[in-house]
Amino acid sequence: MPRIEWDESFSVGIDLINEQHKMLIERTNAISEAVETTRGLEKILQTLSFMIEYTEFHFSAEEKVMIDNDYPRFVEHHKLHEDFKKRLNQMVQDFEEEGATTDLSKEIMTYLTNWLVNHIKGIDTELGKILQEKGFVS
Ligand code: FEO
Repeated sequence: MPRIEWDESFSVGIDLINEQHKMLIERTNAISEAVETTRGLEKILQTLSFMIEYTEFHFSAEEKVMIDNDYPRFVEHHKLHEDFKKRLNQMVQDFEEEGATTDLSKEIMTYLTNWLVNHIKGIDTELGKILQEKGFVS
C-alpha cells in the first residue's frame, strides 16, 4: 500500500484541522509500514493504538469546532466518526484473533486509506467551507 502524502488537495482550508489530518495520515502510514516491513503483530498493534489515540483526539477537537459553530450536519458527521472508531477497535480484535495475515492486512490498509482520504476530501472539506463562510479562524 503506497504512503499517503498530504498535499493541497487534502486542505480543508482550516489550519488547525489540516495539521491534525497530517498527523492522522502519518499514523496511517506508520501502520502501513509496520504491516509491510515487519509483519510483527506487536508492532502493528502498537501503531494501531497510536492511531486510535490520535483519532479520538482529532474527532473530539473537530466536533468541538462543529458545535461551537452550529454546524448543520453534526449528527451525521459525528456518526461517521463513531463508526470509524468502532471499526478501528474491531481491527485490533481482528489482528489479535487472526494474526497479521496478508489478507487481513491488505483489507485493513485498504479500508483505512480509503476511509481517511474520502472523509477528509468529502465531509471534512465541506465542513471547512462552512467554517470559512462563518469566519472561523483557527
Ligand atoms: Fe477530520 Fe471528520 O474528521
